[in-house]
Amino acid sequence: MKVGTAGSMAGICPSASPGLGLHPDDLPDGLVVADAAQRVTCFNAAAARITGLRPADAVGRPLESALPLEDLDGRRWWALTDPYGGLATRSGQPERNLLLPGGRQVLVSARYVRERPGGPVVRVVVQLRGTEARRRAERSHAELIATVAHELRSPLTSVKGFTATLLAKWERFTDDQKRLMLETVDADADRVTRLIAELLDISRIDSGRLEVRRQPVDMAAAVLRHVETYVRAGLPRDRFRLEVAEELPALWADPDKVDQVLGNLLENAVRHGEGRVTIEVSPAVTKARTEGTAVTVSDEGPGIPEESMARVFTRFWRGSKRGGTGLGLYIVKGIVEAHGGTITVGRAARGGAQFRFTLPVGAPAFLTQG
Ligand SMILES: Nc1ncnc2c1ncn2[C@@H]1O[C@H](COP(=O)(O)OP(=O)(O)OP(=O)(O)O)[C@@H](O)[C@H]1O
Ligand SMILES: [Mg+2]
Repeated sequence: MKVGTAGSMAGICPSASPGLGLHPDDLPDGLVVADAAQRVTCFNAAAARITGLRPADAVGRPLESALPLEDLDGRRWWALTDPYGGLATRSGQPERNLLLPGGRQVLVSARYVRERPGGPVVRVVVQLRGTEARRRAERSHAELIATVAHELRSPLTSVKGFTATLLAKWERFTDDQKRLMLETVDADADRVTRLIAELLDISRIDSGRLEVRRQPVDMAAAVLRHVETYVRAGLPRDRFRLEVAEELPALWADPDKVDQVLGNLLENAVRHGEGRVTIEVSPAVTKARTEGTAVTVSDEGPGIPEESMARVFTRFWRGSKRGGTGLGLYIVKGIVEAHGGTITVGRAARGGAQFRFTLPVGAPAFLTQG
């Protein structure tokens, strides 16, 4: 059977690694190989697709003219990097964004193959990738900005609307009406503040700058504090059931961040779930097979549909209209992973959602050594 789309061009390469049954045309990335004499010996199908050049025009020609790459300043790439000359310790070139005549962009990396260390280059293997992936990342950035702007605008519209109305028609409203409007303004201002705090967390998570300041944490006490807050706010105490194992390993974690994780999971269980919320704290074996603590939060609500489970931890995903911004679980996952832990979602025994996260002991080195 012939595979490939209409118009796609087969590459020209000596059939490599017959044991694997793998042909260079099977590779998802472009592959161009030049021999010791700098002649192109292989130009696979993906290379043809990415560069728009014909393999038949490239094979047999010097690498420099077959693949006339330039850097973004217009300098000829092969002359600049001189793969066959230069220091005999060089082993290749890291990935760069380069241009082909006509302005087509490609991501290029190269390896210089030597038969013995310090010997002459016998082969130059060039890998080519299209820039679609990068463009897609840029597009997702643009989408993120659009979503954020939208999320910020709706509470601000309400703040602006109510304050403008109050300023213009102060005398016409009763005290109760004014109070109601100010309460809405207050709540919307809180929403903006919270959203901005969440966005800052996200940027820290995405750039790997989330700092974890570890100190001993009493997980059971932390959970109890959250439950007490809900009870003080008017929820019946029997909405919560707390199951704490008798013996728990020590836990060194960032107490503020643990609070953030618990806060979000409990808020979700109360807001998106129904019935009784069960929180179990127990010893666990973590991914790295070390000791740790596991916390499971289950409710008796509708749960997360099977097909959405993979998406709950992505940013801005929300299952229902009742949802908030959809950032909570993304941040929760980021925090848990910054601690070296894991988080999973599943179905609770009685049908609701069940979130379970584990944190390794995380004791500082001076306590575990010696
Ligand atoms: N316990 C639960 N039961 C049912 N659905 C849930 C539960 N927890 C989360 N979800 C679903 O997952 C979605 C994402 O949750 P997440 O915490 O990330 O965002 P959010 O609660 O909508 O907003 P935020 O936490 O940013 O205020 C929710 O909108 C909800 O649809
Ligand atoms: Mg949430």
